[in-house]
Amino acid sequence: MDATITLNESGLGNLLGCTPTMKQVFALIQRVAPTEATVMITGESGSGKELVAECIHMLSHRAQGPLVAINCGSIPASLIEAELFGYEKGSFTGASRSHAGVFERATGGTLFLDEVTEMPLDMQTRLLRVLETGRFYRVGGTQEIKTDIRVVAATNRNVTEAVANRQLREDLMYRLAVFPLHVPPLRERVGDVPLLAQHFLAALNRANGTQKQFSLTFAEALRTYRWPGNVRELKNTVERSFILADDILEIDLNLSVPTRALEPVEQQPQPAGLHVPLGSRLDEAERSLIEVTLEYCEGDKRRTAAVLGCSLKTLYNKLNSYARERAERSRIGPSVAGAHTSAGLPL
Ligand SMILES: Nc1ncnc2c1ncn2[C@@H]1O[C@H](COP(=O)(O)OP(=O)(O)OP(=O)(O)O)[C@@H](O)[C@H]1O
Ligand SMILES: [Mg+2]
Repeated sequence: MDATITLNESGLGNLLGCTPTMKQVFALIQRVAPTEATVMITGESGSGKELVAECIHMLSHRAQGPLVAINCGSIPASLIEAELFGYEKGSFTGASRSHAGVFERATGGTLFLDEVTEMPLDMQTRLLRVLETGRFYRVGGTQEIKTDIRVVAATNRNVTEAVANRQLREDLMYRLAVFPLHVPPLRERVGDVPLLAQHFLAALNRANGTQKQFSLTFAEALRTYRWPGNVRELKNTVERSFILADDILEIDLNLSVPTRALEPVEQQPQPAGLHVPLGSRLDEAERSLIEVTLEYCEGDKRRTAAVLGCSLKTLYNKLNSYARERAERSRIGPSVAGAHTSAGLPL
């Protein structure tokens, strides 16, 4: 095990995080790293999959060996076989000398197959065979080569959907996802944002000999923005603002960033002022919460259901039953029909 990678309160080696969500990821990494199991890392773009792969390698018994990465999505289909398995001189036009592929170059270490779902299906068949037999030939080669690698793969697609859409062969999926490891998007671990932001700012201050700081507005925006581009977007945002700032980093909403400028933060609705007195019945409390959330979401039922974490159907069923009760009460007498919930909403 490599002594340079340690777990502390700010993360595992270079992989930072202090939230329970990331701590679970660290625990999984530590458990699988020393094994020879093939790991399939999933997660949105920019969430840190490559860093996770590096951590697995550094914590493995192969840490002294090479970590060789290949991005299966960025190599033309016609070249991918040669890139993976290498080729012998003269095996195709332009092969003026022989070349070792990543399978050979990663010998004794880890092969990181990034964006594996982007590999052409016929190459996936070939890859599976090599992974299962542990043997392959260079393109145009006659000598069988034995593999000695540990494979870590990654994709930002949903693996099950990729199989259903015929982007990933099911048998290869089973072979690769012996140990699936999901890196959650940053919006599901917003508690990590200040740590990451401070880390990126400190690195920039160190590199530039400065002592710049975040403004309060910046700190607030960091907390509430949803980071569709995940940690990569956070890192880039800090860097952009760092360049523009003299001393205090401001969020510049007018930056013409082509992809995702920092739009005004999409706030999660936080229904305020709901008071449920002790002694309330559960169904009464639930009804108050539903009605106050519906009002907060301006009658938008889909959004209300999302905020409440229930299905739209459940919400409709509840609202219908309240309507039935209301109709029932208005038949019985006006005094009850005028009652209000504890949140001040008419019943
Ligand atoms: N937990 C983290 N701690 C520190 N830096 C991080 C963390 N997660 C991601 N980063 C940084 O964010 C950037 C994006 O991370 P990475 O390249 O690992 O993402 P990815 O999931 O592989 O993205 P893609 O799917 O686009 O390839 C990198 O600069 C990386 O160093
Ligand atoms: Mg990546």
